[in-house]
Amino acid sequence: MIAHSRPTLSEADVQRVAAVVRSGQIAQGPEVEAFERELAAFVGQRGAAAVSSGSAALHLALLALGAGPDTEVVIPTYVCDALYHAVSHCGATPVLADAEPATLSLDPDDVKRRLTARTAAVILPHAFGLAAGVEAFLAMGVPVIEDCAQAIGALDGARPVGRRGALAIFSFYATKMLTTGEGGMVVAGDPALLARVRDLREYDERTDLAPRFNYKLTDLQAALGRSQLARLPEFIARRRAVARAYRRALAGLPCRLPPDDAGGRHVYHRFVIGVECPLDPLIAQLEGLGVRCRRPVFRPLHRALGRAGYPRADTLWEQTLSLPCYPSLTDGEVRRVTEAVAETLERR
Ligand SMILES: Cc1ncc(COP(=O)(O)O)c(C=O)c1O
Repeated sequence: MIAHSRPTLSEADVQRVAAVVRSGQIAQGPEVEAFERELAAFVGQRGAAAVSSGSAALHLALLALGAGPDTEVVIPTYVCDALYHAVSHCGATPVLADAEPATLSLDPDDVKRRLTARTAAVILPHAFGLAAGVEAFLAMGVPVIEDCAQAIGALDGARPVGRRGALAIFSFYATKMLTTGEGGMVVAGDPALLARVRDLREYDERTDLAPRFNYKLTDLQAALGRSQLARLPEFIARRRAVARAYRRALAGLPCRLPPDDAGGRHVYHRFVIGVECPLDPLIAQLEGLGVRCRRPVFRPLHRALGRAGYPRADTLWEQTLSLPCYPSLTDGEVRRVTEAVAETLERR
C-alpha cells in the first residue's frame, strides 16, 4: 500500500538526535534557541518562539494579539479543526468564512463581510502548500496570522511565506514539510508579541499566576528540526518534481489539477485534484489498487456545527481528493499512483 503521507527521515537525523541524548541536555535549551534563529532566518522574520505543536503556536499567537472573550477570530470553514479549537481555547468566537477555490484557503470577500468591531484577528492558511496571497487580507486592517503549517518554503513574491502577517505559525507534525515528531513555531516581527508568546509557553518561576501552560519544545525535537530544516530545499524540490510528474500524467484525465508552480511559489504539501464523481467509492477503489488517497480536509467546520451557507467549501469537500505527495515517494510509486488514478477515473 502506498501511504498517503509519511515523514522523510535519515541517518543524519538519527545522529543529530543521538548527540543531544548523549549531551544530557534534552529539554528546552540551546538546540531550541538555534532552531528558532535558523527558522526565523529562513522565513526572513525578526524572531521566533518554538512550541510543542502547531495548535499551541496558534493558541499563543492568538493570545498575544489579545484574542479572548468578547472577541471574534475569522477562520476558514474548509480547514482542519485545530484552528477552531485554538480560537475557542482563548474564549474567543470562531467566525467561519467560505473557501476560495483557486487557493483552497479563505475567500477575501467573504472574510470582509464577516469582520466586526470585535474581530481580533484573521487566520489565513497557506493551504496544502499553496501560497495564498496575503495582500487582500492585510488591506482589511485587522491583524493577520499566517498559518504556514503546511507551507514552509512556499513563496510570497520572492520570499518565503510567513513574514507579512502580524505573526505566522508553523507545525512540525510527522507529515508536515519538515518534522520534529510534534512541534510548532511562532514567528513575528514585533518583539513585544514574541515576548508574550515566550512568556505564555512556560509557567515556571513567574511572580504572578496569570494562566500559562507548558507548551515548550525540547532540544531532542529541535535537533531533529534543525537537521530537517537543512534539507528543506531538497524536500521542496522533490515535492515539486512529484507534482510535475502528476501534472504531466493526469493532464488528459477528467480532473482539475492544482495551480502549477510557475515561478516556484507552491511547495505541494498535498497534491489535490478536483473530480466530479462521488469521492468515497473513488477512495475505496484507489485503496483496492494499493494507493491511499484522502479528502484533504476531513470535513468543513460548518458541517460539524450543523450550519449552512458555505457553498464553495461544500463543493470542495465533495469534489477534492489528495494524492500521496512527499519527498520519499519514489518514481515507481508516482507511476503506480498515476496509473491507479487513471484507471479509476476512466472507469467512471
Ligand atoms: C493548516 C493547519 N494549521 C494548524 C495545524 C495544527 O498543527 P498541529 O497538528 O501541529 O497541532 C494543522 C495540522 O495539521 C494544519 O494543517
